[in-house]
Amino acid sequence: MALWSGRFEQGVDAFTQRFGASLPVDKAMYKQDIAGSRAHANMLAAQGVIAEDDAAAISAGLEKIEHAIDAGAFTFDINDEDIHMAVEKVLTADIGTAGARLHTGRSRNDQVATDARLFAKGLCLELMAHNVSLRRALVAKAEDEFGCIMPGYTHLQHAQPVLFSHHMLAYFWMLTRDFGRLESALQAADVSPLGSAALAGTTYPLDREMTAAELGFAGVIPNSLDAVSDRDFLLDLDYACAVSMMHLSRLCEEIILWSSSEFGFITLSDQYSTGSSIMPQKKNPDFAELIRGKSGRVVGDLVALLVTMKSLPLAYNKDLQEDKEGVIDAAHTLADCLVCMEGMIETMRVNEDAMREQAKKGFLAATDVADYLAKKGMPFREAHEVVGNLVLTCEKRGCDLDDLTLADFKAASGLFEEDITSALDLESIVAARTTIGGTGHEAVHVQLAQAKETLEADAQRHG
Ligand code: ARG
Repeated sequence: MALWSGRFEQGVDAFTQRFGASLPVDKAMYKQDIAGSRAHANMLAAQGVIAEDDAAAISAGLEKIEHAIDAGAFTFDINDEDIHMAVEKVLTADIGTAGARLHTGRSRNDQVATDARLFAKGLCLELMAHNVSLRRALVAKAEDEFGCIMPGYTHLQHAQPVLFSHHMLAYFWMLTRDFGRLESALQAADVSPLGSAALAGTTYPLDREMTAAELGFAGVIPNSLDAVSDRDFLLDLDYACAVSMMHLSRLCEEIILWSSSEFGFITLSDQYSTGSSIMPQKKNPDFAELIRGKSGRVVGDLVALLVTMKSLPLAYNKDLQEDKEGVIDAAHTLADCLVCMEGMIETMRVNEDAMREQAKKGFLAATDVADYLAKKGMPFREAHEVVGNLVLTCEKRGCDLDDLTLADFKAASGLFEEDITSALDLESIVAARTTIGGTGHEAVHVQLAQAKETLEADAQRHG
């Protein structure tokens, strides 16, 4: 019998029952639902709306149900539309009239919004902890491989040499911003809609601040219509997940490239690779590819909810029931990908020699040679031209800049002196980049310290 059977002469048919149900998805929120109901019942008693005895019976009954669900001993009835009705029905069957008083001054509209907010807060905290662990792995890798030089790229063409640690730390900072986005999604979720009832508030003297405090919310949503209609907090979480997946997909792309024979910069551990069913020699970076692929799904989750919310009139509409599945998918997908990436980074081998070999190719010293001339007074544009010409000479001869003789350099410009040769080795080119955030050894040391400090501060707050 439906909760609204009083007004109806017929029930929905079996198909529409199943079609309209959210139980398969929202039963994941049973703990939040039970906590919300307990807080509501305690408050009703404190306000004299229901008897203390009834509140105590409700609390005990809910605890029993929670344990049963925990233990997998609760049979969900497919005829229950959602977790709210499932719990309330069993509670009432169990404790009688007291259970039937629980829904006083409450609607499933404020109930579902409360549950979703509590659930979203939990997801944010879980993701933040995974984010911190992955960032720890990136910092550890950056420390372990300190000094390793690789070619830096623009347009996927050799550009300037950089420290591999610098490259790892770039991802560290991207993930630091992801942490910030998760933290703001957490804040967005952290206000209580409970007590808004269906849409307009209620005639009972509810103490919304009391339930908010009991549930650990930072405050109360000031408008009952907004409280039951708002799903921005889920969009914020979806967005945080989508951006973080996009970041992981970029790292995956590099891992895939770096582990190819052409690059050979890294070797993934066997634990994070698969073979081929036909080609015995193959070792594929499947998991990096899978994370890259899953980023599409998570972006889809964000777009799906945005479109569901678009043009939706106030207040509750059944469309809103579509809100949870995508967010849960996005958060669980990101959580798995963060865990997987952490292991992949920890266990991958960095092939320093292969990186250095490649960094010697492609005239990576060219900017430094131009800077050499500019520092001796030649306007940079002119210096650019001179070095461009030297590169052309090298290309024709099939050699690199450090194969040129001092005479070659002098022929290009009288400003070149003996010390030009020392400007050309990889070590000095890297070390010379001393500006804040630059790839020089000293600057990266400072950056590493900064990264660790940021990480520990984040971990202290929510890690
Ligand atoms: N199952 C619903 C959902 O997930 C709960 C709220 C239902 N409210 C209503 N007025 N039909 O959104």
